Amino acid sequence: MNQAVSGFSKLSKDEKINWIAQTYFSNPEQATHTLKQYWNNDQKLQQLHDEFIENTVSNFYLPMGIAPNFLINNTYYSVPMVIEESSVVAAAAKAAKYWSTRGGFKTTVINTEKIGHVHFLFTGNHEKLTTFFNQIKPQLLQSVQSITANMQKRGGGIIDIVLVDKTSDLQNYYQLHVTFNTIDSMGANFINSCLEQLATTLKQKALNYEFFSEEEKNITIVMSILSNYVPNCLVRAEVSCKIEDLAEKKIENPHEFAQKFIQAVKIAEIEPYRAVTHNKGIMNGVDAVVLATGNDFRAVEAGVHAYASKNGNYSSLSHAKIENGIFHFWLEIPLALGTVGGLTALHPLVKLALEILQKPSAQQLMQIVAAAGLAQNFAALRSLTTTGIQEGHMKMHLNNILNQFQATKEERQSIQKHFENNTVSHASVVELLESLRK
Ligand code: MEV
Repeated sequence: MNQAVSGFSKLSKDEKINWIAQTYFSNPEQATHTLKQYWNNDQKLQQLHDEFIENTVSNFYLPMGIAPNFLINNTYYSVPMVIEESSVVAAAAKAAKYWSTRGGFKTTVINTEKIGHVHFLFTGNHEKLTTFFNQIKPQLLQSVQSITANMQKRGGGIIDIVLVDKTSDLQNYYQLHVTFNTIDSMGANFINSCLEQLATTLKQKALNYEFFSEEEKNITIVMSILSNYVPNCLVRAEVSCKIEDLAEKKIENPHEFAQKFIQAVKIAEIEPYRAVTHNKGIMNGVDAVVLATGNDFRAVEAGVHAYASKNGNYSSLSHAKIENGIFHFWLEIPLALGTVGGLTALHPLVKLALEILQKPSAQQLMQIVAAAGLAQNFAALRSLTTTGIQEGHMKMHLNNILNQFQATKEERQSIQKHFENNTVSHASVVELLESLRK
């Protein structure tokens, strides 16, 4: 029977598993076995994973694959990707190899500014608040000196603090809009610590400001938090080549291909239904590298999709054009990433992934991730506008179906051979498997 539980977090790991197994499963032994099957034999390593979050009962595996041959600004990278979707790594690898013989990816970091806010309420005279803010700004900065000192040594810190009047949107609502440079860290903890101190200082200084009325002195801090919308933490990735050079086995008429490809991008630029799926394809590449490098994919997702709507309509993140006989395909996305701090020094596979990427700076990682996103988008659009997406998808998915039915080695070989020249569908695989098993 389902039931509420109190003090769950205080139970031991075994007790937690026992409670879950007894509460939700008719066969508790089986459930316990499944959860424990994924424990690591190395107890130290398991403890490390246990402590990443609260109430850990098991480890949830996702495959980690490598997409080699990413030529980015004339350097080759093998890109680690963590993802469950069967075709993503294959598509990235294929697109990377394709572009490696056509000049590779050209990437640039446009800016690296992070943002956070102290959201507060002030009831009173706006000009007085502005005068007060200008007067205490140096003290605000001074008050976070102990937090920012290390970051400043590395060349980062607070870039600026601006007072923003939001009262036309929400009564009495103001912000301290704070911009940061967090160098190689994603900087969430650093930013939030700074913001909370700034909020405390703001409140204190207001209480002692002689020109404020009693009401004005009483600023209400609503919250202090970084923003995952980082439109000024922006990276660009581009591929380009002569139209004729687009030709390959499946692109017999490169001019026709280029036109249709650009049309597909234009559709995603004006049609939100298509833009969401188009951008989802970009995020297949982005998220997989973000995850492999221990970065926060929810933050990246939220920020990227907000950026895709920056002009008021949700639109494509990538663009394409032909200029003087040259095909250009590019994207610009905001990416707040870190290569130090967070999980980067803790999770052994994250450390390894960063080593495979030759220990990139955050700016280098932004460029690699953007290239992975563009490669993924290119692969999807190439399939969509030529053979259709299902050919490649179902070929990759064939393995999943075979695994689901626990196909033997012989069955696999025979079925894989059959589908080299036939269209894969779930039903047709099952049918063939059943006929082999008769
Ligand atoms: C599937 O994960 C991603 C695609 O749908 C992207 C796209 O349609 O561009 C293939």
